[in-house]
Amino acid sequence: MSCENDLFCGINVPKSKNPDEMTDLEKKHTPVITAPEKVKAGDLFDVKVETGVYMKHPNEYGHYFGWIELYLDDTLVSRADLQPVLSSPSVTLKISATHSHEGKRKLRALAFCNLHGIWEGEKEIEVE
Ligand SMILES: [Fe+2]
Repeated sequence: MSCENDLFCGINVPKSKNPDEMTDLEKKHTPVITAPEKVKAGDLFDVKVETGVYMKHPNEYGHYFGWIELYLDDTLVSRADLQPVLSSPSVTLKISATHSHEGKRKLRALAFCNLHGIWEGEKEIEVE
């Protein structure tokens, strides 16, 4: 069975990385990652993952982000479980990359909205 148009099927990624070309749904849900362009292997650095950056998303009992996950390439680095109203769906995580991650790597954030499914944002960093 195809579920091409079902938001709960797979991971939602905006068609364009340019917010001016995103739909309102994409603007509200795509997580935005802030991190240094370059990091040293083994050093801790901050990664901020925010939702609702390009357009505000509700944070109420009937409609909210339930969790945010951060990956370095395909490795899960951290996961934050979120409550509506009581917590903000934007998190800052302190992480490090190992020597085996040297070179250009991809930070990927997934954010789950209870009404609109899982959304992905990414940012490339260089590990040296
Ligand atoms: Fe939503």
